[in-house]
Amino acid sequence: MKRILSGIQPTGSLNIGTYLGSVKNFVKLQDELPDYEFFIFIADLHAITVYKDKQELRQLTKELAALYIACGLKPERVNLFIQSEVPAHSQMAYLLQCNSYIGELERMTQYKEKSRKQETGVTVGLFTYPTLMAADILLYDPEYVPVGNDQKQHLELTRDIAQRMNNKYNNIFTVPKPLIAEIGAKINSLSDPTSKMSKSDNNLKARINLLDPENIIKKRIRSAVTDSLGTIKYDLENRPGISNLMTIYSVISNNSFEEIEEKYRGIGYKEFKEDLGEIVFQELKPIQDRYNELLNSKELDSILDKGRDRAFQVSQNKLFKTMDRIGLGRKRK
Ligand code: TYM
Repeated sequence: MKRILSGIQPTGSLNIGTYLGSVKNFVKLQDELPDYEFFIFIADLHAITVYKDKQELRQLTKELAALYIACGLKPERVNLFIQSEVPAHSQMAYLLQCNSYIGELERMTQYKEKSRKQETGVTVGLFTYPTLMAADILLYDPEYVPVGNDQKQHLELTRDIAQRMNNKYNNIFTVPKPLIAEIGAKINSLSDPTSKMSKSDNNLKARINLLDPENIIKKRIRSAVTDSLGTIKYDLENRPGISNLMTIYSVISNNSFEEIEEKYRGIGYKEFKEDLGEIVFQELKPIQDRYNELLNSKELDSILDKGRDRAFQVSQNKLFKTMDRIGLGRKRK
């Protein structure tokens, strides 16, 4: 069966950037592509490349699992699991590290940015992170990996490693393709609309988290940075603020930019922002209600158990096959 796989790090509360750029896309795909098996995981091993408090990490992992389901992932369609509960991920990462080069990892934009911000105490884990991400993917032979724009470079590296190992070891891996949403692949910060909305931004005004209450959601939209032109027109390069808000509007409402421009002709930012605040709140309200039911339920635990068992089966098999091709251990029958 053909497969699709993706993951999110539990590094902070899920915000509408990750939701619109990634989660909403999986929810759509699970119905549009009935012939595919889906794997979605919480990338907790990736989260510890920078120190995390134990309680917080556990809490964020559980929160993310509940949010995934609350956002509409169907447990009968999707194998949802926690990365660290499936040991083949770390084992495969090592095999891939032995087939990757320091130079190519040094070129990764995310590593350069994060290590520059951190200055001291940059861990080896942060450096080798893309090889763990490649392992996450190649273990499952997915045809597609839905991600936002910022993960494109890591996907390209994954493809390079897969091709390199396919040449050395007789076609072990499916070479995966990124699947990037046409609209919403990059939702920007509400306070600096030229940079990505990020979980790790210290400025709370920059984002809306999925669990934010109604008054905060509306306040954040009202105070989002725009420009002085006052018209609702999509122009990403010259008017990033209003274009970002229109992107959020478009992905949630399914209206095209032209339809939004038409609807708000002659209407200013204030009214547009009031409407957008309401649209975002109406999108998030049912997610928040379902999340509260799920968070401490047995249902969530059994979904994660089932996901882990299936992921274990597929990944362990792939790991052993890869070890065999490389010549590690005794030959398996
Ligand atoms: P992470 O946790 O930073 O983000 C999860 C997903 O959300 C997308 N995304 C966004 N899309 C649009 N606008 C934004 N502002 C925005 N912020 C985040 C990301 O592109 C991503 O698709 N390394 C990955 C997690 C990972 C993974 C994997 C993904 C680990 N292993 C294997 C796919 C396959 C990460 O840090 O994503």
